[in-house]
Amino acid sequence: MKPRLFSTLRCLQHENPLGLPRAGSIPRMQRGLPERRSIKDVKKVVAVSSAKGGVGKSTIAVNLALAFARRGLRSGILDTDIFGPSIPTLLNLSGEPRLSSNNQLLPLSNYGVKSMSMGYLVGDAAPVVWRGLMVMKALQQLLHEVDWGGLDVLVLDLPPGTGDTQLTITQQIVLDGAIIVSTPQDIALKDAIKGINMFKKMNIPLLGMVQNMSLFTCPHCNSSTHIFGSHPGVKHACEQHDVPFLGDIPLHPSICDDADRGKPTVVSEPESTRADAFMSLAQEIGRKIDLL
Ligand SMILES: Nc1ncnc2c1ncn2[C@@H]1O[C@H](COP(=O)(O)OP(=O)(O)O)[C@@H](O)[C@H]1O
Ligand SMILES: [Mg+2]
Repeated sequence: MKPRLFSTLRCLQHENPLGLPRAGSIPRMQRGLPERRSIKDVKKVVAVSSAKGGVGKSTIAVNLALAFARRGLRSGILDTDIFGPSIPTLLNLSGEPRLSSNNQLLPLSNYGVKSMSMGYLVGDAAPVVWRGLMVMKALQQLLHEVDWGGLDVLVLDLPPGTGDTQLTITQQIVLDGAIIVSTPQDIALKDAIKGINMFKKMNIPLLGMVQNMSLFTCPHCNSSTHIFGSHPGVKHACEQHDVPFLGDIPLHPSICDDADRGKPTVVSEPESTRADAFMSLAQEIGRKIDLL
């Protein structure tokens, strides 16, 4: 199949936002709650969430997918952030996905992980200027019209908030669990707790919370600082809301640099203590969903 150009303009003009032929299996209007569907050819699906932006969801999601791959699993990541996709940058991938013979999007791969993102379909600088209905249609296609070709685990990188995207995913997809990422300060935790309550309400298993960017160890003097305060933070929230604590990812400049240059920590510094933190997280999550 030849590559196809998916332009924002064309998407805006068509009812079918990604310009893909419909699979014919997604009903247009459903009465009551739609039934949850499994993502085809994928054994386990884990959502990485937090109601707050900028707390490290995408960074953790991509390192998690890479850590699963390093542990020998067939791993993929689906970027469900339609307005602010990060996965193309994080995996240093771009270009239009090809279509399979049955008109499914074929994922782009790097470092042994398959990926799909709105960013591949609209390009680097093009904004997605859509109303909710268009976003929902695009999301449905990303969820149901990608040919993953057999995966053990698919990580969903969720956008911030508890809105349309989160609702669609929790109502329509069979999720094996959700992970909530938060930094330890109150302003992030308040939103993270909204995320916890949303997953509880939707009866999605909460695998636990990850604390990100809590501790900074100075590379020059080796002293450690709790940048966002030394209050109990995420561990305390876990106790209060009866959610497991999954671990800590330190604040480190190279985690940010690795992400920016499209070679995340798990593959760029595999022997580092930072990569170990992601590997342990993957081990713990893999154990909880019966994969490792
Ligand atoms: N543990 C960390 N140490 C250093 N920088 C981090 C860490 N986690 C995330 N970042 C940086 O913080 C910013 C926001 O992270 P991102 O993963 O995009 O958050 P989100 O997906 O929640 O919006 C990015 O620049 C990222 O590189
Ligand atoms: Mg993100």
